[in-house]
Amino acid sequence: MTEAKLEAWLDETRSFAPSPQFSKQANAQPSIYEEASADPVTWWRREAERLTWHDEPTNTLEWDMPFAKWFSDGTLNASVNCVDRHVAAGRGDRVAYHWVGDAEGESRTITYADLQSMVNKTANALIEMGVKNGDRVAVYMPMIPEAVVAMLAIVRLGAAHSVVFAGFSADALSSRILDSDCQFVVTADGAFRRGAASPLKPAVDEALESCPNVKSVLVVRRTADDVNWVEGRDVWWHEIVERQSDVHTPDYFPSEQTMIIMYTSGTTAKPKGIYHTTGGYLTQVASTYMNVFDVKPDTDVCWTAADIGWITGHSYIVYGPLINCATQIMYEGVPDSGGKDRWWRIIEQYKVTILYTAPTTIRTLMKWGDDLPKGHDLSSLRLLGTVGEPINPEAWMWYREHIGGNRCPIVDTWWQTETGAILISPLPGITATKPGAAMRALPGIGVDVVDNDGNSVGNGEGGYLVITHPWPAMTRGIYGDPERFKETYWTRFPGKYFAGDGAKRDDDGDLWLLGRIDDVMNISGHRLSTTEVEHALVGHPAVAEAAVVGASDDTTGQAIVAFVTLKMSTDDASKDQVAVIEELRLHVARVISPIAKPRQIILTPELPKTRSGKIMRRLLRDVAENRSLGDVTTLTDPTVVNMISELMGTEASSDD
Ligand code: WT7
Repeated sequence: MTEAKLEAWLDETRSFAPSPQFSKQANAQPSIYEEASADPVTWWRREAERLTWHDEPTNTLEWDMPFAKWFSDGTLNASVNCVDRHVAAGRGDRVAYHWVGDAEGESRTITYADLQSMVNKTANALIEMGVKNGDRVAVYMPMIPEAVVAMLAIVRLGAAHSVVFAGFSADALSSRILDSDCQFVVTADGAFRRGAASPLKPAVDEALESCPNVKSVLVVRRTADDVNWVEGRDVWWHEIVERQSDVHTPDYFPSEQTMIIMYTSGTTAKPKGIYHTTGGYLTQVASTYMNVFDVKPDTDVCWTAADIGWITGHSYIVYGPLINCATQIMYEGVPDSGGKDRWWRIIEQYKVTILYTAPTTIRTLMKWGDDLPKGHDLSSLRLLGTVGEPINPEAWMWYREHIGGNRCPIVDTWWQTETGAILISPLPGITATKPGAAMRALPGIGVDVVDNDGNSVGNGEGGYLVITHPWPAMTRGIYGDPERFKETYWTRFPGKYFAGDGAKRDDDGDLWLLGRIDDVMNISGHRLSTTEVEHALVGHPAVAEAAVVGASDDTTGQAIVAFVTLKMSTDDASKDQVAVIEELRLHVARVISPIAKPRQIILTPELPKTRSGKIMRRLLRDVAENRSLGDVTTLTDPTVVNMISELMGTEASSDD
């Protein structure tokens, strides 16, 4: 949202008081904030009691900036915390997942007892394949229960999973496998999407051509299409897992055991392997799940509509909910698989009480019209959440009125792959909400908005978002690159974690997140760097140079706009520019993922550069967003700008 638009909204801010239905929540005490901020470390130590420890920790925080250890002498097993202890407590019959397939009518019910048997068998199968404590296992899976089972079985053995979103290309998969030296891969033959099967295994086969260290690949049969098979390397899930014993005696691992590696885009072409360890991560996902969503595990049916290939899926489809013995929906399809009202039918059928999704999806559902949700009974819903990008007040209000029936509080949750868990969000029953604001830091979290020099800004002012003290689920670093970790997050404002986001405090001191201030784009809540896409484009033989910017987009938040100069003259290219552009778009999809496909590619004979040869991205962003261009006096060739504007059909012009 632009500054001017935000100002307008702040002027007429509608503030919704905390919903009274939540105010009797056991943890819904206003004092929770004061208590936690008086002594955050002690507060987190108490939250760690949500877990079952094998050896109780006596240490809480060891902080050697920027490297944190939480609960370091404690030992535990993540999968025991998510599954075994619930079954042992007599809750084995509780549904863990109502799995809803892409195809109409396809569903599975998986109880905690089922989950235990599946996880144990899979752990035994992984042992037979050679997986052991300290290994890394890549997971490249569709949204099926086996994906969760694989994750739990991997961490049960003390190995770490590196889940790669199944929409990523073979190249993206192989570079991730190589970076963290995964020796095993879990995948499926294919996935279903809007009724059509799309293969996954070929991408794994292609990726593994450059990954000689991968010993075995465990393959779930999902689409039953023919697949290429590498004898001695590939193993069918139904062959090896099904014949295992459903008993597995767990080992216990140190709190700081690495359990998650998750690649995310930074400002360079190389994604960062963000890694998380066990005790601190699990403590904070368990705590935030209960506090932010006010979950009542005995009665709630929770639906985090995300993919396990992203951190949202890790923290709020897998670990947070399972630790708390919650019942969830796990949905395989896209919002319009089987019709544009599919979501509302799922909510009605399963009486979903808590829905958590991204603003981009809300805007898409909103575009499909009010009649679709109106045609279904959504009265079971009692809380709504949003994550991934700033939510525009219009979408927030639509979500509140048309989905939440004006009765459900909305929690706008700010966090990142690196933070592991939610850090900024209102608490239902305690914090008032405003359309478009994430409001305030959660108990135990220190957040500030600072100016260029690192000084706190006052109310009504904007600046950079920083986190002021360590938190349990914070990333322990970038896999294999501690220097990059320090440099990326801890040097801009010494001693503070720099998130890369702009933020504003309104006149009441409440927080509004304004999006990335670096070269990271947010496309439908997916994080991509401009350099990554540029890199893919210049990898095409016809491309000489490319500059990529994120331009605002009504549905996807931001969209990718690429300015490309071709090796041949544009005159030649103009013969079939449309074909060239389409070829380049497909090329990016092939190299990275379809989510990285530029919305628009502009072929231009020159890119605007400063005298020192730097591409003027700000200016390109202005062109892409149809803004007037401001000061371009440092341009080497100002006429380039006019030419680009013409190519785009905008009226932007240089001030010169
Ligand atoms: C970036 C992190 C956390 C899981 C999904 C994305 C943006 C996230 C919000 C929000 C405004 C948000 C930020 C952040 N973001 N949540 N509620 N309001 N912006 O994880 O891929 O690591 O991306 O997403 O810009 O830095 P991610």
